[in-house]
Amino acid sequence: MAVAPAPVEVMNLTEAEAEAELARLAKAMTAANIAYHRDDAPEIPDAEYDALKRRNLAIEARFAQLKRADSPSEQVGAPIADGFSKAAHEVRMLSLENAFDDADVTEFGGRVRKFLGLDEDLAFTAEPKIDGLSLSLRYEKGKLVQAATRGDGAVGENVTENARTIADIPSILHDAPELLEVRGEVYMSHADFQALNVRQAERGGKTFANPRNAAAGSLRQLDASITAARPLRFFAYAWGALSEPLAETQMAAINRLSALGFQTNPLTVLCQSVEELLAQYTRIETRRASLGYDIDGVVYKVNDLNLQRRLGFRSTTPRWAIAHKFPAELAWTRLLSIDIQVGRTGALSPVARLQPVTVGGVTVSNATLHNEDYISGCDGKGAPIRDGKDIRIGDWVQVYRAGDVIPKIADVDLTERPDNAVVFTFPETCPECNSAAIREEGDAVRRCTGGLICPAQAVERLRHFVSRAAFDIEGLGAKQVEAFYRDGWIATPADIFTLKARYGSGIQQLKNREGWGEKSAENLFAAIDEKREIPLNRLIFAFGIRHIGESSASLLAKHYGTWPAFEAAVTASEIGVGAEWDRLLAIDGIGAVLAASLITTFQNDAERAAIDALVMELDVQRVTSRAPLDSPVAGKIVVFTGTLERMSRAEAKARAESLGAKVSGSVSAKTDLVVAGPGAGSKAKAAAELGVEIIDEDGWLALIGQA
Ligand code: IVH
Repeated sequence: MAVAPAPVEVMNLTEAEAEAELARLAKAMTAANIAYHRDDAPEIPDAEYDALKRRNLAIEARFAQLKRADSPSEQVGAPIADGFSKAAHEVRMLSLENAFDDADVTEFGGRVRKFLGLDEDLAFTAEPKIDGLSLSLRYEKGKLVQAATRGDGAVGENVTENARTIADIPSILHDAPELLEVRGEVYMSHADFQALNVRQAERGGKTFANPRNAAAGSLRQLDASITAARPLRFFAYAWGALSEPLAETQMAAINRLSALGFQTNPLTVLCQSVEELLAQYTRIETRRASLGYDIDGVVYKVNDLNLQRRLGFRSTTPRWAIAHKFPAELAWTRLLSIDIQVGRTGALSPVARLQPVTVGGVTVSNATLHNEDYISGCDGKGAPIRDGKDIRIGDWVQVYRAGDVIPKIADVDLTERPDNAVVFTFPETCPECNSAAIREEGDAVRRCTGGLICPAQAVERLRHFVSRAAFDIEGLGAKQVEAFYRDGWIATPADIFTLKARYGSGIQQLKNREGWGEKSAENLFAAIDEKREIPLNRLIFAFGIRHIGESSASLLAKHYGTWPAFEAAVTASEIGVGAEWDRLLAIDGIGAVLAASLITTFQNDAERAAIDALVMELDVQRVTSRAPLDSPVAGKIVVFTGTLERMSRAEAKARAESLGAKVSGSVSAKTDLVVAGPGAGSKAKAAAELGVEIIDEDGWLALIGQA
């Protein structure tokens, strides 16, 4: 339904005309909102919708007394995802480590054997890696009670009603464990995807770029009847919480899921060695084009579930599985221009603007060019990149994309270089704030030195601050913080928490902003207040300090426990010297580069002021190690020495840490326990001298209940 904007200018409208038009606009915009947000099938172009919205606001501004109770300016076009409730995963939903070639797979096999202390070949399953979105289905007493998307791995979106509409997902299971969480992939077949896009296009609705987007868009519909009308499918390949084991091996567990009524992938096979895995990879790759659905690699999993348990997990991936990805997809196109984007940590990133080209079914018009050396074809030490070929504006370039990552420029064809191709001069000042942009010794990246005065850095930091793994404030996403920054409402994270005090009286000011109504403004302030209580790890991550990601923030938080302890330690630390520096580096997983970046940030006056102002607004929650407190070795400092005969050193360490022990490489008066195998030398001696308890491997296994 296209609604032509009324021709009469707002200033010439009579009151009666204005009233009639406000009614017409309310009706048109409500219909457009439903089509866009609920049906996922927009009926008018965005620009037209914006024109209606502007006109509605202009009329309301002139005739305030005519503003309707159902005025569209009071309705927020909330993103669809906001409508789902949250669902916590009892067992985290993890991702997979990637292998890109045979050598990576061989290395994976070797690593697994070494961890387990095994010499002989191991059995693995190999199965296609489905390119869809993962879903966890919780069955209690055989009944489907919850379906949740992966979300951040710990908490996903509750899409139970939507999942019930998928034919491949049984709502009742017979002879299933009391509690069973089945995990797998929701996907759409090529044929169904194409037919859906034709239908959408005929209705003037939104078409999808690829089957995965179509599957995600279709599952995450607030109105489950829309999901029901979309042809979604589901393959089961894993599980979460269980009241009893499904089987003893991965293969048998998959067969059990199949017997329970789930679709499992028919190309899943058992392999007896890495060589057999690689052969199966080739077999699956040759069948890829004729499968009828998208896959982006082959997943290998250790077959023996007892060995899987022993191998355990790193922070986000299991040690017992790997995804062997198919090679990236390639295409050639023209490089039209190069823009410089300034990131959160000041990095100047060159972005290639390309003549749009389809790469593996997706239209690509932007790609990363990494850094200035990558463009010039020569690295900081004078070594050639791409055989020394530089990249010029106007060049014919090769684009590749692998999975979800940002497309990259891989190569340039010099025979296609036009005479007027332009050499790109990398800027030495920040294009956003004009501060000097410098390259530090040994760093390929040029960085803006403007810090918080650089608007690009400030905005990127705010975006990072409100991102999902950081403060995750409902209703305050990247778009909103950008708008608030642009209008001078917030400059640093602390400003978010003073927003209400500064603008909230009567909420009038926020209410007057486009897209905000009284309810949404109140909701926003409530959501901000809710996040004043924040766990220490999220706070550390939210600062957006270079080199500090989610997992290192967690390591720091677990180590220091509270904000005052963390803050005091970092403040007292000096780069490269002293006891505090040594203590920082003694944290497993914290290296010198990360530690130096942390200290530099805390020593910078402006950064420090921003941090202090923020923390004043917060109630930072203590973080405790997730390890079970009742474990007999929780909090103990343990040293392994000598030869371990029933497990590798890596396994012993991982197991001890999962039980809350700290594993150290050297014996001191602080050591609680030394586990000494045959051949233990100086460490066992030192322990004896210090009076530290020494046990053997069997004693250790008995202590942790694994004898
Ligand atoms: S196993 C603990 N098997 O790939 C590991 N994942 O890149 C659980 N995926 O989040 C995952 N096909 O969404 C597994 N056959 C398969 C898969 C598969 C697709 C997805 C899954 C996962 C992602 C990791």
